[in-house]
Amino acid sequence: MSDAYHELLDATIRHLETLKASGVRYISLSPEAIASLNGSRQRRSVSARRPAPAVAPQRVAAAPAPPAAPVAAPKTAQPDPVPAAVATASPALPSLGPEAKAAAFADLRERVLACIRCPHLASSRKNVVFGVGNIDAELMFVGEAPGADEDEQGEPFVGKAGQLLTKIIQAMNLTRERVYIANILKCRPDTPGQTTGNRKPTPQEMQTCIPFLHEQIDLIRPKVLVALGSTAVEGLLGKTAGITRLRGTWQTYRGIPLMPTYHPAYLLRNQAPAEKRKVWEDMLQVMERLGMPISEKQRRYFLSASAS
Ligand code: URA
Repeated sequence: MSDAYHELLDATIRHLETLKASGVRYISLSPEAIASLNGSRQRRSVSARRPAPAVAPQRVAAAPAPPAAPVAAPKTAQPDPVPAAVATASPALPSLGPEAKAAAFADLRERVLACIRCPHLASSRKNVVFGVGNIDAELMFVGEAPGADEDEQGEPFVGKAGQLLTKIIQAMNLTRERVYIANILKCRPDTPGQTTGNRKPTPQEMQTCIPFLHEQIDLIRPKVLVALGSTAVEGLLGKTAGITRLRGTWQTYRGIPLMPTYHPAYLLRNQAPAEKRKVWEDMLQVMERLGMPISEKQRRYFLSASAS
């Protein structure tokens, strides 16, 4: 099966788990999806040379027939592969109502705060850094991992790089409260024997933690994602092409437009106005994509001497 198929399958499973976590026990399926599910299972069983249990029709509702007989949400994350008809429908799965969404988010937060999947990070962290902002945000920023300040305060992007990110957000006429900000890793990467300094998350740590970010994105459903730096790009897109090549070029994360740009920490290390301007140009593209008004002053921000 292709990577795209597995991505869609993962997305569908995550969405079903999110629904389940928020109290949803049943979903309706169209007659076409049911037929496709049954057909797929039969096809698989033929190729596997064993009898296939068909989806139990009495547990399935042929929407829109009222009352909707339900399909139980999966008990675990191990369902059989979802056929294309369901998998491709993933982006169109119904969004949660405000209360169910808030409950699902609170449930996710609780699970993240209690996570000990990386024992070395669970024992070295002061706080888990879940994420901050508006869970209905149209724009979501994704960074790498908490640093010392974030670990101390339990909030992403509050240190020097975070202050610069806040300025960028404000220059877009937005606030931290209107957008959502999260990281690939929810714990600060430990630096044994050191009291200062940061390190890049390991591939193993990223793989372990990324399902939480996927769930956050699934729930928030932003219109645009901004990946800050190469680790965020790698975590979300699996691309290691290098941020210098990718920045400023629209990418797609499961149907959501994603703009890679430099991490604000890079801008602090490299103060060249030309680099700041690149990030600003990326943000102008984001604003355009979101249909935000852009003033002449904003357009010329980094052309004026004062901004450099
Ligand atoms: N850098 C990041 O990538 N994330 C933070 O939260 C802080 C600094």
